[in-house]
Amino acid sequence: MENLQNEYLFPEIFMREFLHTQKYPHARVIRLGIGNTTEPIPDIITSAMAEESKGGLLTVNLAEESGRRNLNETHLTVNKGIMGVDQTYYANRDDMRASLFTMETESRSTQKHAHALSTVEGYRGYGAEQGHMALRMSIAQRFYKNMGIEGNEVFVSDGAQCDISRLQMLFGSNVTVAVQDPSFPAYIDSSVIAGRAGNFQEETGKYKNIVYLNCRPENNFFPDLSTASRADLIFFCSPNNPTGNAASWHQLKQLVEFAKANGSIIVYDSSYAAYISDGSPRSIYEIPGAREVAIEISSFSKFAGFTGVRLGWTVVPEELLYANGFPVIKDYNRIVCTCFNGASNIAQAGGLACLSAEGYQAITNVVDYYKENAKIIIDTFRALGLKVYGGKNAPYIWVHFPGLSSWDVFNQILEKTHIVTIPGKGFGPAGEGYIRVGAFGHRETILEASARLKNFFVTDNI
Ligand code: MLT
Repeated sequence: MENLQNEYLFPEIFMREFLHTQKYPHARVIRLGIGNTTEPIPDIITSAMAEESKGGLLTVNLAEESGRRNLNETHLTVNKGIMGVDQTYYANRDDMRASLFTMETESRSTQKHAHALSTVEGYRGYGAEQGHMALRMSIAQRFYKNMGIEGNEVFVSDGAQCDISRLQMLFGSNVTVAVQDPSFPAYIDSSVIAGRAGNFQEETGKYKNIVYLNCRPENNFFPDLSTASRADLIFFCSPNNPTGNAASWHQLKQLVEFAKANGSIIVYDSSYAAYISDGSPRSIYEIPGAREVAIEISSFSKFAGFTGVRLGWTVVPEELLYANGFPVIKDYNRIVCTCFNGASNIAQAGGLACLSAEGYQAITNVVDYYKENAKIIIDTFRALGLKVYGGKNAPYIWVHFPGLSSWDVFNQILEKTHIVTIPGKGFGPAGEGYIRVGAFGHRETILEASARLKNFFVTDNI
């Protein structure tokens, strides 16, 4: 903890915004900083959270489609577990409850969620730590179809950021870590907390034992792996936060080959996959061989507006083994059971509804709305003659201010326009000279931000 250099980036930004509002109590601050969703969650999903509606139907379909293969497997292993023979990662008492839940849902129209918690029949306590099997299977089907991912390899959670920290517990403090530079700050900060980062070096702005994989426009935001140092763990986010760049299939193939050659594990963050517009891979498992080298974390936050509801998942394939041949999934299950009691039943009901045909269409419309916002922001900065990246495959726009300090640009924009952005340096040394602008906001707010920015840059000629 002592080795951490600053406060975590986003609370630091909130603090600066707070001080700004103290200074200008009448200012209407526009927040394009932290990627916090703003648009209402479609009713089909909130209804499912209030009282089960579409979720139940989906469960029945899933059970039918899967031919009950996974459910039978679960029951068999549960029996073994109860007899004390072989309690494996997909077999515990709660998994049994999860599959019973699925069975129950088939037989009657249940009311299990928010309202139902006030009824004797509808009340539910703990669920499976790994998540309801119906949701795990649904995630596998919706996002990993034809990629060989099964429901028992999906661990439902309360969000990708929490999973990043839980994953860190799997590995010892002598493990080496590589990150994209710039990158989402939780990868580095949780590595520092885990004791893996070594000393911070003021001259470079880097931790000694962390491998920084430079991702700039000059290299198409993809590191030169032919010269990169080996690391045990590689955090890789695509579409990338903060640059908004999505790696191509060929680039990810290189990454998988690099990990294989070096005996590394990739922790692939696909939290922004729903924003991909150009056909780039939405999952690392689109790449042959990735099941042997990659864990994938993902989230309902930016895809379904669940930043406050909290729901995410992590995929750990059975083929992913430690050097001694032990399956990582078994240890991850152990961590999840020890450190987590399962995602909220209500959130999981919402997650299931998001993955139904109707729910998926409804949230895709919201994602499209944010993408339209991103376009307005891109056009705004381009019209001002600035170089702009991202925004096409992600809700983040990465704007270049050559030769300027990103904190100075952040401060100036806040001071003169009352718009909160994020200074690129907060994401790593390669972020210096950039700011990240988020596309989350009501349309009128985004248009207002655009007008203020144009006015400021033209008048002040920054
Ligand atoms: C971001 O703004 O980068 C993220 O949304 C913050 C988060 O996920 O914690």
